[in-house]
Amino acid sequence: MSNVVVFDHPLIQHKLAILRNKETPVKEFRELIGEIAALMCFEATRNLPTMEVEVETPVAVAKCRMLAGKKLAIVPILRAGLGMVDTMVSLIPSAKIGHIGLYRDPVTHEPVEYYCKLPEDIGNRVTFVVDPMLATGGSAVAAIDFLKKHGCKNIIMMNIIGCPEGIKTVQEAHPDVDIYMAACDERLNDHAYIVPGLGDAGDRIFGTK
Ligand code: PRP
Ligand code: URA
Repeated sequence: MSNVVVFDHPLIQHKLAILRNKETPVKEFRELIGEIAALMCFEATRNLPTMEVEVETPVAVAKCRMLAGKKLAIVPILRAGLGMVDTMVSLIPSAKIGHIGLYRDPVTHEPVEYYCKLPEDIGNRVTFVVDPMLATGGSAVAAIDFLKKHGCKNIIMMNIIGCPEGIKTVQEAHPDVDIYMAACDERLNDHAYIVPGLGDAGDRIFGTK
């Protein structure tokens, strides 16, 4: 079974408290999504393999470590996942970016696919699927299904807020995928929104409501 890592870091928790507040304006909300994603990325990349290299400093040769092996990809689930991409790419500038467009049908809450474009060599990359919200888990499972069909073998999920229902759904469908999240909330409400959550992540990032 996959690992689920829920962050208890004070900086992440502090930023999350501001993010959840319904009075937080769009600009600050968007910035916080990026900042939390960057802090989570720091930890979610902890197990990447490194190799020893020798570097000539102005003084002497230093034995250093650099990332080794497979290259990385970041795949946001549109729309809200886009909010996590820029700060992650600033930490991992060589990462390639794919896009998976899914929206939840308002009645059935099932994910509906409308756009997909992945790097050609995605199958050879460690792939971070990013989406602020893991609610029913339907969107995450559909995105991971799609990535696996395109040859991805090493997938890591990053969400800002999740809930037990979403975690269970992803773990049952994809027990090989580790999940990193800043908070695991209580439950889903009758509209499949996370409680207490932060509302509609896409609308709050893009100011559409
Ligand atoms: C939100 C969120 C996830 C999905 C989570 O997107 O960003 O993609 O819901 O819900 P689930 O776990 O029940 O599938 P939404 O469908 O609202 O689309 P948007 O990002 O375009 O607003
Ligand atoms: N999508 C969101 O944006 N928020 C939720 O709480 C659930 C799904």
